[in-house]
Formats: sequence, structure tokens, C-alpha cells
Amino acid sequence: MDITRRQILALFPAAAVFLAAACWTSVPVFGEQVGHKTILAATPPMGWNDWAHYECRYTSKTILDNAQALVSTGLAARGYKLVAIDDCWMAKERDANGDLQVDPQRFPDGMKPVADAVHKLGMEFGIYEDAGSKTCVGAAGSGLPKRGGQDHFLQDARLYASWGVDYFKLDNCNVYVAHGETEEQAFRMAFAAEHEALEAVGRPIIFSECAASVFLGTPDRYTVLSWGKGYGQVFRQGTDMDDFHAASPNRSRFRSVLWNYAYTLPLGRFQEPGNWADPDFLIAGDGGMSLAESRSQMALWSMMSAPLILSSDVAKLTPEALAIVGNEAVIAIDQDPLGQMATLVGRSPETDVLFKRLADGAAAVAVLNRSEAPVKVDLRPADFGFAAGAECTLDAKDLWNGQEQSSVSTLQAEVASHDTIIWRIQASSQCGKPSRTGTITLTNEVKNRPYSIHSIEGYARCLTAPGTVGECTGAARQSWTFTPQGELRSGHQCMAVLGGKPLLEACSPANAQYWRYTLEGNLVNNGNLQCLTAAGPGSKPQSLRMQVCGHSLATQIWSLPN
Ligand code: GLA
Repeated sequence: MDITRRQILALFPAAAVFLAAACWTSVPVFGEQVGHKTILAATPPMGWNDWAHYECRYTSKTILDNAQALVSTGLAARGYKLVAIDDCWMAKERDANGDLQVDPQRFPDGMKPVADAVHKLGMEFGIYEDAGSKTCVGAAGSGLPKRGGQDHFLQDARLYASWGVDYFKLDNCNVYVAHGETEEQAFRMAFAAEHEALEAVGRPIIFSECAASVFLGTPDRYTVLSWGKGYGQVFRQGTDMDDFHAASPNRSRFRSVLWNYAYTLPLGRFQEPGNWADPDFLIAGDGGMSLAESRSQMALWSMMSAPLILSSDVAKLTPEALAIVGNEAVIAIDQDPLGQMATLVGRSPETDVLFKRLADGAAAVAVLNRSEAPVKVDLRPADFGFAAGAECTLDAKDLWNGQEQSSVSTLQAEVASHDTIIWRIQASSQCGKPSRTGTITLTNEVKNRPYSIHSIEGYARCLTAPGTVGECTGAARQSWTFTPQGELRSGHQCMAVLGGKPLLEACSPANAQYWRYTLEGNLVNNGNLQCLTAAGPGSKPQSLRMQVCGHSLATQIWSLPN
């Protein structure tokens, strides 16, 4: 990127909105035509990537064997169509023309034959680079060299296009931060430049951005997510799934599944067709994951409309594992065209209850059991925002075992330890349309990246009536409805601002009871235009107050029912 553009963006960050034009093309390849506009990645991408299973221990044969296995297992026919190569494919140095060189040990015939073979199987081809001067393993990156100079975003994008790349992941190691620039600004320059480069090469390429990940635990993450929406279609925004290691193949990896789920779930406001929050690879069925845990990852990822990118040795997946990741009814929840993020209906120390609206008017419900013992659940339609009353009943189908419940007034089940039950439900006409009902959470962001908080319990806290933020317990006092008019309802009461203070009172059409929810996650009161604010970001219960809205303040970033 030339310095002029860098300066323009630094001086006028809003210009990026105009520079990040949507993707328009008359020949959709992987996109879906909506009017005359093509949405790239209209549904969450599905496929395979080498990284979490192989790291750098792979060659072109590994890639093509897995592509073949996707076909022979039937997973490709169920949607797992992308075959993506991660880090380590390129040499450490560029050639005399500044072009990337393919690692000759791994790819003795170069990259193009591999891409062609993948396409010949009817699949899509993905590749990886880095926004810094070096990738995370130290190979040649696309970004600015240390101390500045020339980047290679456009030159490299031309190379990908010449190979026929369909999906591109840009990582975030070794990004150069110029003097006087913040890390967030440096990232924005790099990802904007990559966006422009991909646009310039005249091939629709899905852009997967790993921009927000390094900001996990800080409010800057939300700033990055806000501009990242304009540049790409998939956004990683947290730490990696635990990788597989042959030396300890059964080392449990479920904790990383729970953690990645926890940091992705509050991001519903950023998600829509063409913009997918990516909690990282699907390791379901791989070493270190029991069948119950594999069902959990598949169900949770599908409830979040997450990309389903397997990272395992596909030929070695057992029939039981294949049945889980290939479950068509669960895949249909993931691929539902509405593309909603699940709402966290309730969270207790043992369970999470999730709800997701579907395009055909049905819905999906899932219950995760994190605990070591089975848990019984008993859920009412009103928990999901349907009209309360005996006439409202549900038809439900358990998508793992096919069991059906008809016209029930409560959904009942026992969920095994570490398992997740997932139902497709149809509410009777008396239930009406579901309102946006569930928890309102505040995530525990602080300035100095608390990577030690790798647990759900430490990350999100729940808004609790009449007006505190504390541990999520699953109590009715933590269920809120955000109405289309902008009320925050708890039972028959509404959150209002009186005398400058937030409090619950009987609902009435007063301005002070209406709230605007912004992409940054702020709840802005219509009466005094101030933001609902927790007293502090710590994990202890906090009181609420109203304060002037600041830019990305940890105490003002809320996640609402979707
Ligand atoms: C980072 C990314 C991973 C993978 C590795 C490769 O850790 O988050 O997904 O791409 O780099 O080095």
C-alpha cells in the first residue's frame, strides 16, 4: 500500500467504509445472487483445513488425500467443499522478483496442480498468508517489512488468482506497527490493503480475516470487528483450537472448544449472511474429543452459524464421528439462510440453553451440559420468547437420535455430561412469533489481555434484575426481552433512567424506557442519550449506572438476544 493511502486512512478512518465497497459481480461463483448484488459466502463456508491436525507436518499428498477422503466419505456431498492449505506452504524467502515461492519439499510440482486437482474433484481451493512480514511459523508474509517499506498484498493476490484460489485466510503474526500508530490502526491498514488486492484481481475470493484475534480480551476487538465487516466474509476473533499432537493423541481438547464457543457467542450483532464469526476449526471426531464432546462442538457451531471447517485426518474419522459431522439435519441448522447467531437464553454453572430462529419460521434449541454429570432440562416456550399460555405448544425433533415430541408444553430431556442436545422445533400458531428473549451479557474485557481467563465463567456476566451485573446463574431475573420498540423488559417491568440512574419500573411509553442498541454493543438511552454502564469490568457483581458513551469501553459493551 502506498503511503498516501495509509495517511488518508490514518487521518480519516471513516474513509475505510467507502474504500471497503461490497462485492458486486455479474458472475457468481460461490456467492448467491440477491437482486443484482452477489453476496460472497451467503451461508457459512464448509470444508477442511490442515492446521489443527497437522500443523506443518504435511505435503501436497496430505492435502489431496484429505480432499479425496471428503469425497469418498460423502462429506463433500453434504457441503464440506473447501480444501484449504494453512501456514507452511511457502518458502522463507521470496524470489528475485519478489514473488512468493512454494516450499519445494511439500509441493514438488508447485501449487497449481494441487489447486487443479481440488477443482477437478468439484471442490474449492483455499490458501493462507499473513498480514505481517512473516507468517506465524516464520515463512514469508505479505505485509510491510519491519521498519516499513513495500508490502506484497497485490502481488501475492495475483498469484492466488492465477492458481484459482477461492478462499483466502489472512493471519495476524508480525504485523508492523509504524511509529505513532496504534496496533489497531496498523491492522486496519493491512486488512484494508488485502481487501483491495483481492478486489483488484477480478476473482471472487472469500476473505477470512484473522484481524480481531489478537485483540481478544480488549475492547479494541470490537473496533476491529466493526471495520472488518466491510473487508471480508469470515472473521476469526480469538485464540486457536488446541492442535492435535500424535505424541499425546488423546489429550483432551474440549476445553478449547468451550472457550472458543464462549468468546464467539456474544458476537451476534456482527453476523449476517456474508459476515461470519469464526470460532476456529471443527475438531469433532478427532483425537482428544469424545463422541459427546464432538456432538457438542457440531451442535454449538451450527447454532452459531459458524463456518464448518474440519481439521482432522478425514480418512481416519470413525463411522460414529462421520455421522456427527455429516448429520444433515444439524448441517441444515448451520446453513440456515437467516444466518443468525444463537441467543443465549440462559446460562447456569452446568448448562447453556440456546435458541436460534430459522428462515422457514421454525427454530432450533440446544442445551450444552458442561458438567461431569447428566443434567435434566425442562424448558417452556416462554423461555424462548414465545407467548406464554397453555395454548402455545411445541413440536420438537432431537436431531441426534430423531426422537420426536409432539404438541408439548415443555421440552424435556436428560443431557449427558459434555454432550449437547439439539432440537428443531415448530411452535403452534398460538405461540406467535418469538420475541428477542434471553440473557444480556457483558464480556469481561480489560486492557491488558487476560489470556488466563480461558473459561466461560470468567468471561461473560449476566444483567440481573433489578439492576446488577453478576455471575450467570440461569435465574429468571436474568431473562430479558428487547422489544422491537427498544424496551428492555424483565417480566412486566422495563429498564428506565430516572434521575440519571438506571432502574426497573412499570412499563410505560416514556422516552426514558427506550434504548438503541449499536454495533459497538452500546445500549443508548433515548431519554438522556447516555450508555448503560457497569460499575467496573472485574468479575465481581457490579452495580449499574448511566454514563456518557465512550469509544469501546469495556463496561459499556453488551450482548443482547438476537
Ligand atoms: C495462527 C492461526 C492458526 C494457524 C497458525 C499458522 O495461530 O490462528 O489458525 O493459521 O497461525 O501458523
